[in-house]
Amino acid sequence: MINEQVMTTWLNDAQNFLLKKIPYIPELGIILGSGLGKLAELVEDAVVIPYSEIPHFPVSTVTGHSGKLIVGTLGDRKVMALQGRFHYYEGYEMHEVTFPVRLMQTIGMKGLVVTNAAGGIHPDYRPGDLIVIKDHINLTGSNPLRGANLSNLGPRFPDLSEAYDGKWRELALSLMTEHGLNPRQGVYAALSGPSYETPSEIRYLRTIGADLVGMSTVPEVIVANHGGMKVLGISCVTNMAAGILEQKLDHQEVLATADRIEETFLRYMGQLIALLD
Ligand code: 6GU
Repeated sequence: MINEQVMTTWLNDAQNFLLKKIPYIPELGIILGSGLGKLAELVEDAVVIPYSEIPHFPVSTVTGHSGKLIVGTLGDRKVMALQGRFHYYEGYEMHEVTFPVRLMQTIGMKGLVVTNAAGGIHPDYRPGDLIVIKDHINLTGSNPLRGANLSNLGPRFPDLSEAYDGKWRELALSLMTEHGLNPRQGVYAALSGPSYETPSEIRYLRTIGADLVGMSTVPEVIVANHGGMKVLGISCVTNMAAGILEQKLDHQEVLATADRIEETFLRYMGQLIALLD
């Protein structure tokens, strides 16, 4: 665990580095999930910074993730896109997984859009669906806010009763129909992974109210809320969870589905980002 003083120093170093490289403070952060990183290529007048250059930034390893921070405009919005995220299952500590969000807060950013590839639990979902995240269930077994509170960034006991902004969710839903998407919101359960769930675990998750399951997003969203950022989450259902259909799961299907809906995802996200206030 990292103490408040060390984290403050790290964030200062990273902030000083970043502010020399970027022309303005972006309004919106965008974290791109597995297979969804292409949105970053639509960012115009982009300043591209490899994670490896940013002081104290972890370096991402998992396939399909390239590890770049991109600042530029998307639909006339000033954005910071993160292509490649850090997963708890890779062995990163929670403070590493959430370091990018802390950095966004430190430089004064107020909004965050998180995307992910998720398994579908709700029986009406199908691979290729985009679902607005309504709420989450943290089953990672940890919490990024454990340890000394970074009191300059937020409260000891932050409220999560609207972790995903209600107005942003309504806006996200309202745009779906014109992109040929079913407007739906669901509850995302985050587990640590890296194994997928057993059919019994999925039945349990269904019982406790989860519609989607994944291995990311929740740590970043907790930290974003702690720091007072507005959050929107979009899940891409890349496969159905174990036992929902009679088929096995593999990471290739996750990437193939993300690839298949890429065009829709890009058009939809492009329009959505232009409209988030
Ligand atoms: Cl089925 N489970 C988890 N934990 N993460 C996933 C997934 C399933 N499908 C995509 N990501």
